Amino acid sequence: MSLMSGYFSDELLEEVKSSNDIVDVISEYVRLKRSGRNYFGLCPFHTEKTPSFSVSPEKQIYYCFGCGTGGNVFHFISRIENLEFVESVRHLAERVGMHLPEEGDMAAQPEKVRLKQRILEMNLEAARYFHQNLNDSKAADALRYLKDRGISTDIIKRFGLGFAFGINNDLASLLKLKGFGEEEIVEAGLAYKSKRNILNDKFRARIIFPILDVRDRVIGFGGRVLDNSMPKYLNSPETLVFNKRKNLYGLNLAKKSNEKKVIVVEGYMDVISLYQHGIENAAASLGTSFTQEQGRLLRKYFDEIIISFDADTAGQNAAVRGLDLLNDMGIPVRVIKLLDAKDPDELVRKKGVKLFRDLVKSAKSLAEFKIDILKEQHDLNDVRGKIGFLNKMAAVLAKVQNNIERDAYVRKISEETGIAVEPIYAEISKQVHGRNKVRFRVPENARIERPRTAKTENRLDRRIIQTEKMLIALMSLGDKELFGYISKKIKPDDFRWEPGKCIVEKIVKAYDQLGEVTHSEILNRLEEQEEINLFSEIMQGENNFEDNYKVADELLGTVERGKIEARIHELHVQMKEKNINAEELRKLDEELKTLTFALGAMKKPMQKGGVNSEW
Ligand code: UTP
Ligand code: MN
Repeated sequence: MSLMSGYFSDELLEEVKSSNDIVDVISEYVRLKRSGRNYFGLCPFHTEKTPSFSVSPEKQIYYCFGCGTGGNVFHFISRIENLEFVESVRHLAERVGMHLPEEGDMAAQPEKVRLKQRILEMNLEAARYFHQNLNDSKAADALRYLKDRGISTDIIKRFGLGFAFGINNDLASLLKLKGFGEEEIVEAGLAYKSKRNILNDKFRARIIFPILDVRDRVIGFGGRVLDNSMPKYLNSPETLVFNKRKNLYGLNLAKKSNEKKVIVVEGYMDVISLYQHGIENAAASLGTSFTQEQGRLLRKYFDEIIISFDADTAGQNAAVRGLDLLNDMGIPVRVIKLLDAKDPDELVRKKGVKLFRDLVKSAKSLAEFKIDILKEQHDLNDVRGKIGFLNKMAAVLAKVQNNIERDAYVRKISEETGIAVEPIYAEISKQVHGRNKVRFRVPENARIERPRTAKTENRLDRRIIQTEKMLIALMSLGDKELFGYISKKIKPDDFRWEPGKCIVEKIVKAYDQLGEVTHSEILNRLEEQEEINLFSEIMQGENNFEDNYKVADELLGTVERGKIEARIHELHVQMKEKNINAEELRKLDEELKTLTFALGAMKKPMQKGGVNSEW
């Protein structure tokens, strides 16, 4: 039984699904346009500039022709929201105000979902504990540190800041007292086992920054030392609930600011300091470079992203990478260059928030920012420097799609550098001609997931795979008689294509159990991402023919022929073996003749002789 149907009944799943039209749900994430029977948009699961992501309102499934992922509305939500299947069912039920049976007996839940909830509970306990610690006299230094950095009591509360004492295992002991097991505590990343198998707290003698997701759940922690010792920050490891690539620090608060822009900074302290100065729409990437997932998450809540990274080289390089990435994703993005301050925190504290707000207003586009950097890198008083600058700057401007915008930059550069407009345009047009190379480079972070079968597909005859896919399509149409007709003639084991075989097994089982089956019930029973993708691909095609039985016969014929051809090939190989004796050879030859004859008889005259075409 599949994960989901084990937990919620098929009827309930269908009810949740039918109350959440896939087009409506996906429209909340992707701009869809109707084209014929389907809707199309830019795939949220890989980077693309022309839409290959399709949604079928009839079949209530989606499929991306670009990256080969697909599924129903549950699969979509669990993928895009990073939820377990069961959680995505709850999510969609809540979306339409449906009441699902209570969690009730936790033991009935799949282990992973249960553990995830336990980790969230432990994190919440830990956050409360750390926060309360600040009232303790042993936390006096920590409190003073925060005050010295200008952080108010209000802000401490708002961000739930806390302190971890320097003791070996006081959080772990507390959690154990509250009924959590040692394994769970380790899974939560809150403690680790020492060599002598003793639990030690991960965070010790550090100021604690709880990290909340957009739903205000505590998913992890950052801990800062009070002095200059290293490492400056320790962070929670990746856990079932903490994925650094998919979250941003402070986004839960930023999203409540109702601002149209979001300011992305590098540090926890930047977010907090900006907030304290009245800028409530900042969030920090979590110590890793900015990711596409983070870009997508921000796009859900904001129209534009303003990057404000540290002024050092690392920060500026990270800013360029972030700009490129967001630009490639088609998300409006600009960048702030900090003046006379190392980071946003220092800037607002030393120069005042007014200056920061002005910088946000005059934030630069990707092209402007890159050209500024190039200007700094080249000596424009020197001819060689000028040529180098012209060259690189043209490469940047060649990528600007909007002509008006490009003209404005050219004029500005010409004024500032004294280079005439003509050579600038000449250089740009040179670059534009060679630009395909640049433009179609796959962005570093684009993890285009190809179905795992790609390799197998090359080896297995494509025709066989196509045939088997069509058979699966016919078996899933919801036509019981047609299914019976086909399943009598071909068994799951006859499918040579491994994922196809697994899907067929599940279709057969579904018919056994239910009698009547729809493609959506089949989809509900698939667990492997690969099978879900493939089945969606199959269903997305047009598979209902005028005479389905005739088509089925042809397909079955092709499978049969394929089997015979494979056997013939095998026989040829066996007969060439060196130490084969005469008797064996005779037997094999006999089988070969029979099969060759059978194959000849199966081939249709049209294909075989081409007699008609002679006329
Ligand atoms: P910063 O060093 O800029 O930290 O690193 P910060 O938040 O501005 O802190 P202060 O102002 O020095 O106190 C930026 C981010 O990089 C991650 C943290 O997420 C930090 O907020 N980082 C930094 C680590 O994970 N580990 C480190 O050792 C340093
Ligand atoms: Mn910093």
